[in-house]
Amino acid sequence: MYVSEALQSLTVYLGRHGIEHPSTDAEWLLSFVLDCKRLELFLMPERVLTAEQTERLRALSMRRAQREPLQYIVGEVDFFGQKLTVDKCVLIPRPETEESVYQVRGYLEENFFKEPSDLSDIGYEGQKSLKILDLGTGSGAIAIALSALFPSVKFTAVDCSVEALAVAEKNSIVNNVRERISFVQSDWFSNIKGTFDVIISNPPYVSEEEYRSLQPEVRCFEPKSALTAEDEGLADLKYILSKAPEYLKRDGLLVMETGCTQHAALRAYAKTLGYVKTQSTLDLSHRERYFWAWV
Ligand SMILES: C[S@@+](CC[C@H](N)C(=O)[O-])C[C@H]1O[C@@H](n2cnc3c(N)ncnc32)[C@H](O)[C@@H]1O
Repeated sequence: MYVSEALQSLTVYLGRHGIEHPSTDAEWLLSFVLDCKRLELFLMPERVLTAEQTERLRALSMRRAQREPLQYIVGEVDFFGQKLTVDKCVLIPRPETEESVYQVRGYLEENFFKEPSDLSDIGYEGQKSLKILDLGTGSGAIAIALSALFPSVKFTAVDCSVEALAVAEKNSIVNNVRERISFVQSDWFSNIKGTFDVIISNPPYVSEEEYRSLQPEVRCFEPKSALTAEDEGLADLKYILSKAPEYLKRDGLLVMETGCTQHAALRAYAKTLGYVKTQSTLDLSHRERYFWAWV
């Protein structure tokens, strides 16, 4: 079978199985099997697939047709310029979380890395003592992306899942930031010692009702424990908000990714906890998605 024929028939097949972007997914799967870039497929339409490649493509296509996420099938995802391995033990990092990293990067630059001498060719070298805690690190996405940008910062990355921590640690090695991150198994703060300048978290915040309406890709394949929380999705957000002041330095900041209807409740709760200031920032669809609170 030619590359052009494989693309065409795979697109039709995935479309029939309700895949939202069948031609894009067909390109990803075929380029994965042929170990080439997507663009290259269009430069070699008459290349012939070997029997082994055809069989492999068939097996992977069946997985995608059963709605397994493309990222689990190919086993990796690009997150803020870092290549991360993902498997069923970890949530697939989302573009919304990249946006939170982008916003936190701006905050760190503005507040801790203002001086030109803080800048080096490979990243921000200033503020050697800065400490950041990533709560619920999953694949390690947030800690790894930020530690690549800020090599001098010391990160602690926490998850309750040993399997997730193993994936995160492996990702930190592949992305050459292992020595900048301490990985700790902990039920939120339970095994955490010391205080931090910034705590960043993308905790589970989906309500049971919302969960039932999610795509099969999410419901049937991603770990539910990484997604849902009790109290209409607020339980973990509120718990972290209530405990963070004990683990923040003076003027320290907590930033949490949230659902888009949760900020009124979080603002009201933060008021009872003595935070000096809170702020809500928006995702790229202009929804309130990041809750910032300063002690
Ligand atoms: C929404 S995922 C975020 C993963 C990653 N930070 C990201 O943004 O892609 C939430 C993570 O929190 C972890 N988690 C859930 N409950 C936890 C708890 N009680 N203590 C520590 N981590 C927890 C889950 O295992 C999961 O990895």
